[in-house]
Amino acid sequence: MNSDFQVYLKEKTNFFETELKKELEELSYPETIAKGMEYALLNGGKRLRPFLLFTTLELLNQDIQKGVKSAIGIEMIHSYSLVHDDLPALDNDDYRRGKLTTHKVFGEAEAILIGDALLTYAFYMLSEKNLNILSFEQITKIISKTSAYSGINGMIGGQMIDIESENKKINLETLKYIHKHKTGKLIKLPIEIACIIADVSEDKRLVLEEYAELIGLAFQVKDDILDIEGTFEELGKPVGSDDDLHKATYPSILGMEESKKILNETVERAKKIIHNMFGEEKGKILISLADFIRERKS
Ligand code: IPE
Ligand code: IPE
Ligand code: MG
Ligand code: MG
Ligand code: MG
Repeated sequence: MNSDFQVYLKEKTNFFETELKKELEELSYPETIAKGMEYALLNGGKRLRPFLLFTTLELLNQDIQKGVKSAIGIEMIHSYSLVHDDLPALDNDDYRRGKLTTHKVFGEAEAILIGDALLTYAFYMLSEKNLNILSFEQITKIISKTSAYSGINGMIGGQMIDIESENKKINLETLKYIHKHKTGKLIKLPIEIACIIADVSEDKRLVLEEYAELIGLAFQVKDDILDIEGTFEELGKPVGSDDDLHKATYPSILGMEESKKILNETVERAKKIIHNMFGEEKGKILISLADFIRERKS
């Protein structure tokens, strides 16, 4: 992996975590919720979604400070989705990021509320906390996109069809719906928010949106592959969980070889459209990020 990219990734991740910790200092009572939110947020995620927001802002010549509160909001929604995804009623997983899942530490009822608190606080971040940073119009657009991409027409829609498809033979179209929604939408969101903040031209926005869809798909196809080929040590979450639950995944429906082929083609296409629009130098971080998604082990 390109070492410039690694340095850039680390720098942006560190910046994000410092800002996130400052924000969490404001929360203390009820203690279980405050501690639970902190646990779910500060236990070592890759910070892919904040990274996408910051990188896209820089690509569009914007100060990343303008995206901080939105990045924290998105990461809160992502973390809530994982807290609930791991619950016994859903995927029933005991480990996440190498540590016990939130419900294993705080209890099931508590984890439901911790997830709810993360989801609702995210909208406080996007609205109140953005007041001195963005215009009302930008804030409204961001809230509207975020709610659309998180709920029935977004992540939750994907999660619902994912669990309804357990133990079933589903067609490729349904599988595509699952991936596009349960994972794709929250990966597209930070890129679209950066476009709102930068008030970008239509041609660039369309390319960035297509890139976002491609890497969103690649990300979940790779997640499915890692559930078979990964190790607990690297992933920090159980392997074989999809198979145990008879989940509909790319490898289970199309086979491993075809899944890897799709992953490759998707990543190559994502790189190509960025290269064509922004050039190799300006587009290098998004190009390396697509490779990172294909090669990641965690
Ligand atoms: C895991 O997302 C859930 C999926 C959408 C596949 P990530 O792999 O981005 O989770 P963290 O935040 O890095 O742990
Ligand atoms: C979850 O997909 C996507 C979410 C919206 C949380 P998975 O169930 O495959 O994610 P992991 O493998 O548990 O991280
Ligand atoms: Mg799941
Ligand atoms: Mg899961
Ligand atoms: Mg998975």
